[in-house]
Amino acid sequence: MTVDIAQSKARGIASIYNSAVAAWAIAALWEIGALDELHRNRTLDAADFARRGGLDVQSTTGLFRALSAVGLVLRQDTVVTPLDGFDEMYRDKSFFHWLGRGSAELFQQIPAVLRTENRTGDHYRRDPAAIAYACREIDQVTYAPTFRAALDRVDFPFTRVADLGCGSGARLMQILDRYPGTTGIGVDIARPSIDVAVKEAAEAGFAERAEFLQGDVLRLERRPEYDDVELLTCFMMGHDFWPRENCVATLRRLREVFPAARRLLIGDATRTSLPDTELPVFTLGFELGHDLMGTFLPTIEDWQSVFEEGGWELVRTNRIEMTVGEVIFELA
Ligand SMILES: C[S@@+](CC[C@H](N)C(=O)[O-])C[C@H]1O[C@@H](n2cnc3c(N)ncnc32)[C@H](O)[C@@H]1O
Repeated sequence: MTVDIAQSKARGIASIYNSAVAAWAIAALWEIGALDELHRNRTLDAADFARRGGLDVQSTTGLFRALSAVGLVLRQDTVVTPLDGFDEMYRDKSFFHWLGRGSAELFQQIPAVLRTENRTGDHYRRDPAAIAYACREIDQVTYAPTFRAALDRVDFPFTRVADLGCGSGARLMQILDRYPGTTGIGVDIARPSIDVAVKEAAEAGFAERAEFLQGDVLRLERRPEYDDVELLTCFMMGHDFWPRENCVATLRRLREVFPAARRLLIGDATRTSLPDTELPVFTLGFELGHDLMGTFLPTIEDWQSVFEEGGWELVRTNRIEMTVGEVIFELA
């Protein structure tokens, strides 16, 4: 009996370890296109995939071995087929990428990041281009349908839009695509994200209608390009407005910098209060990651308490609350 308990504990610990390796594998297999191919064809030969892509056969097979170890695929030598749970993991793959590619350096450096003497200025590093890559799909999984409904509720014609913290520019391009005759500006603090956005806007045929500027949304100055923006959107960076006094000041500043703005849509994650043993995918990594970065995560109630003071009227709160307390506020 004792032996059985000891063995099952050992299996439990092995499964925690193997899950950690599998999380890295999911992020990588998505980025190299292998997850998409397996999802589409329902079978994949890792060796063949590796050779076609100029990848190391042994390591590529090893990534699928990690998926097999946690029961996501059945592996027979180099050939794999999906098992129960694969499609759910496939839907959630961007959360693994956020952790294992975009935020890897932050988690790798935890002992240094924890030290209070180090927690000033840029005390951590993440990969902005990888974060933008994951966020594009996180958006589709979480915010996209509610965002489209919020756009449909904008009750005035608009021709100019600005997206704050635009990342790879996907949201701005979605809006331009949906509303012909509009033009837009994306603002982001990270040069790599701006470079990706400029390139992808050109490829998608939006070069004439979209421009991207590097800038800090928390310290924007008026510029002619902002004067006639009527619709403002800000997704997955609103928590950077906080703490409270800064958030109120930023909301007020947006009114001055964008004098023609009539609607502001803020979509973001909020702090959850679920029991430790009931946390869904993403919540734990997202909240610990933001604690490590020293970023305050407001609750929905925190947000609702600042709008009036910030000069905006809350028209509607859309609670999505899929993994990390996602919400979209419609402000006028
Ligand atoms: C999580 S990503 C979200 C990207 C995009 N808004 C989306 O919905 O997919 C957050 C983005 O906000 C940008 N960001 C963070 N702080 C910023 C600031 N103070 N000013 C401008 N951009 C900022 C980051 O560089 C990153 O591209």
